[in-house]
Amino acid sequence: RGGVDLAGKRIVVTAGGTREPLDPVRFLGNRSSGRQGVAVAAAAQARGADVLLIAAHLEVDPPEGVELVEVQTALELQEAVTEAARSADIVVMTAAVADYRPAVTRESKIKKSEAGDTLSIELVANPDILAALSATRRDGQVVVGFAAETEPDPSTLIELGRTKLAAKGSDFLVLNQVGWEQGFATESNEVVVLRKGGDIVMEASGSKLSVADRILDVVV
Ligand code: C5P
Repeated sequence: RGGVDLAGKRIVVTAGGTREPLDPVRFLGNRSSGRQGVAVAAAAQARGADVLLIAAHLEVDPPEGVELVEVQTALELQEAVTEAARSADIVVMTAAVADYRPAVTRESKIKKSEAGDTLSIELVANPDILAALSATRRDGQVVVGFAAETEPDPSTLIELGRTKLAAKGSDFLVLNQVGWEQGFATESNEVVVLRKGGDIVMEASGSKLSVADRILDVVV
């Protein structure tokens, strides 16, 4: 491929894990490190794209020189990416977005003395940002989603991916298996990419940067 095959293209990448506050000091989060999303941003920058990185909690530094918007919650991420998508040629939703948030965020710390031996927290569903972006994307815009699944059986994993892709309506779905020691905070990744309709268009494993480049090859 050409070195700068994304020159003149505006790409919006979301990365990291959202944090949904319970009270001023606690949140519901997930184990996403942001590494794969940061790698997509870095690879796109190296290929000449104009990159906006929308970062929820990251455990790694964002690439130098990339435009950065920091968010905490799914709702903040939704606002930022919906606005940014208006002028984007490509949107890559790598972020691990919380499916649910606490129904109530307390103004002060939840106290053990009030809760007792068990504590229930009511959660409400967050909007599915990827589905909404896919439904409203402009002509020619490419939308890429990710799906991290704990399903160990490869063929069941692909079936889950196909169902998810159909539900989300994105152009591509990057599927990877995650577990206690796999996928999230690791330096490498193994993915299968499905395109609209469910066909496998690419399989890659290696460093998150090399996987990012292969994903961008598919997008190009
Ligand atoms: O449904 P699931 O969380 O597995 O879907 C993963 C994909 O959907 C990712 O691309 C993620 O960024 C996106 N997502 C979203 N809004 C949510 C949950 C996930 O856009 N509320």
